Amino acid sequence: MKLLGIETSCDESAAAVVEDGRRILSNVVASQVSVHARYGGVVPEVASRRHLESLLPVIEEALSEAGCGWSELAAVAVTVGPGLSGSLLVGLNTAKAISFARDLPLVAVSHLEAHIYANWLEADDAGVAPPRFPLLALIVSGGHSDLLVMEDHGRYRLLGRTRDDAAGEAFDKVARLLGLGFPGGPAIEQASEGVPVERRFWQRLPRAVLRGTYDFSFSGLKTAVLRLTREYGDDLPRSEIAAAFQSAVVETLVAKAVRAAREERVTGIVVSGGVAANRLLRETLAKRAPVPVRLPPPALCTDNAAMVAACGYFRFRRGERAGLGQDVLSGLGVPGTSPTTVSQ
Ligand code: KG4
Ligand code: ZN
Repeated sequence: MKLLGIETSCDESAAAVVEDGRRILSNVVASQVSVHARYGGVVPEVASRRHLESLLPVIEEALSEAGCGWSELAAVAVTVGPGLSGSLLVGLNTAKAISFARDLPLVAVSHLEAHIYANWLEADDAGVAPPRFPLLALIVSGGHSDLLVMEDHGRYRLLGRTRDDAAGEAFDKVARLLGLGFPGGPAIEQASEGVPVERRFWQRLPRAVLRGTYDFSFSGLKTAVLRLTREYGDDLPRSEIAAAFQSAVVETLVAKAVRAAREERVTGIVVSGGVAANRLLRETLAKRAPVPVRLPPPALCTDNAAMVAACGYFRFRRGERAGLGQDVLSGLGVPGTSPTTVSQ
């Protein structure tokens, strides 16, 4: 069964064709990063205009790369939230038009749940069995840091989330403070490459432990970096601070995930979202986790439409359909864990 996935929640216009929720037949992403980089962050109006220009060619490319005609599709899955309303609207309205014109069922997908489903996609591990429940899911993206137990397809229990900045947001803000560019995650990772974590910075960067909860907090870390930039002025040791910051974020994420995996007796951990592309996080988690860890290849950690099609497939199989009255839900969470959810 083939699904077309469409993703436009932030600054990537993406479309993909995925078979049976696992096999990627095509996965096309038109990134706007270079457009937004000069502003140091995503400009919502510019993003939606760009989606308007790129989305149709991206969809056509995805179908043609997959060698798939409209008649071979079983449904169209589209991200309806969370994200930038204007950007989401472009994707949703395009999906509605396709659904109407081609008489295809429409499936509404949460971008966050889709990130989790990147772990179902076959990458270099084709033939490997899908993850087994119950699972611990760690979503670390530009807008979210959520730790959940996934009991089954579509069944989640939230353990903790960030109380302030998301992990990716912290990377982006700290990179800006250090003058390292946008997006901040890859910039900080690159600046930290081979740089040892120095005691003098390690001690100055607080790791918000928040005892007794699985919640995260990253804003104190950002403030500590701000203080260091003021202190050092023009002689800012950028790479050294970047390395200490990266290590502090990874330490916090890994400590909570490892504790949750033990206490919740899960069979494995699935990690996803842009920050899951971070090498230090990948290596540290794999080393310390008490159960097997699955991480999508970096290109499937960041925003893409293959994960939307994968998530949509499992929702579609459960009989979930969206109508043409479906609206965007910019504050959407993972189904069942927040007041705003798509139908369950
Ligand atoms: O999942 P994503 O592509 O978009 C959202 O749903 O937000 O995540 C983007 C975030 C950005 O904050 C970016 O800086 C971060 O993921 N990111 C990384 C890395 N690559 C992307 N953070 C740390 N290390 C990376 N290699
Ligand atoms: Zn994302």
